[in-house]
Amino acid sequence: MVNLTLAICAFALQWILSGVAALPYTSGIPYRTKKGHAHPNTALLIVDVQYDFINGTLGNERAYSILPTIYDLLDNHTWSLIATSQDWHPEGHVSFASAHEGKKPGDVIQTPLLASRYNETAMQALYNDHCVPGTVGAQIEEGVQTRIDTLMGTTPITQIHKAQNHLVDSYSAFADNQYYEFTVLGPEMRAHGITDIVVVGLITNACVYGSTVDGIKMGWDVTVISDGVETTSQAEQDEALEELRTWWGANIVSLSEFEST
Ligand SMILES: *[C@@H]1O[C@H](CO)[C@@H](O)[C@H](O)[C@H]1NC(C)=O
Ligand SMILES: *[C@@H]1O[C@H](CO)[C@@H](O)[C@H](O)[C@H]1NC(C)=O
Ligand SMILES: *[C@@H]1O[C@H](CO)[C@@H](O)[C@H](O)[C@H]1NC(C)=O
Repeated sequence: MVNLTLAICAFALQWILSGVAALPYTSGIPYRTKKGHAHPNTALLIVDVQYDFINGTLGNERAYSILPTIYDLLDNHTWSLIATSQDWHPEGHVSFASAHEGKKPGDVIQTPLLASRYNETAMQALYNDHCVPGTVGAQIEEGVQTRIDTLMGTTPITQIHKAQNHLVDSYSAFADNQYYEFTVLGPEMRAHGITDIVVVGLITNACVYGSTVDGIKMGWDVTVISDGVETTSQAEQDEALEELRTWWGANIVSLSEFEST
């Protein structure tokens, strides 16, 4: 009799939860409960997995290694929110060496701080033209994009197109490098009751770094999946992850460590 009552209760609870889970903007309950790993109150942030950082103008062979990790996090995990970011630069953007007479990629210039009354400047590194809307290089890698498209309608998804302002670069998915303007990512996280963020993407020592630091500054508990992020060399990868861990307090774990907790 007790067993039967328990079974009925469990069934009723499951039924109620499945109904609740179908409502938009319900925080705390993963939208789909069929997959192995459920992460309530947790957002997966996929930073700049765009062709220009894989095989395009700022491409690097090492980038390919993160794709299976990201596919797994999309296929076998459930999230309260999934966010993607894309660099989305207008032609002639301040970060393009081609926009500055006599400069080449790798040079560093000083650019005005937009909100300063005192003519202060900030450092701006210069790159090849990259992630211009309408080019293949700006697109998210197909395996990731297809999965995102499939999850739409069952998981809340927010897509950030960052660094559209000609005058200031934006490594972070939350804000530009001068904190002149913020994206909607912070408010989206709050609207969905997010307490924890899991970060993957490209590249470890720039946009992954900036997004992780901002997530922590804005009050979230941030975990970086070490085999879900990459950059141009192992030395830079190790250094960036170590800084994120010791200076900023990010959790750095491999996918298998993450899946075993
Ligand atoms: C990068 O790979 C994608 C997908 O295979 C392809 O469409 C694109 O042309 C490649 N880009 C370059 C510059 O080779
Ligand atoms: C998802 O999990 C299944 C079962 O463990 C595994 O076979 C599959 O490779 C995983 N998917 C990805 C994309 O890793
Ligand atoms: C900032 O630069 C402008 C133009 O050169 C100048 O007129 C102004 O006095 C400068 N302001 C300060 C605080 O240095």
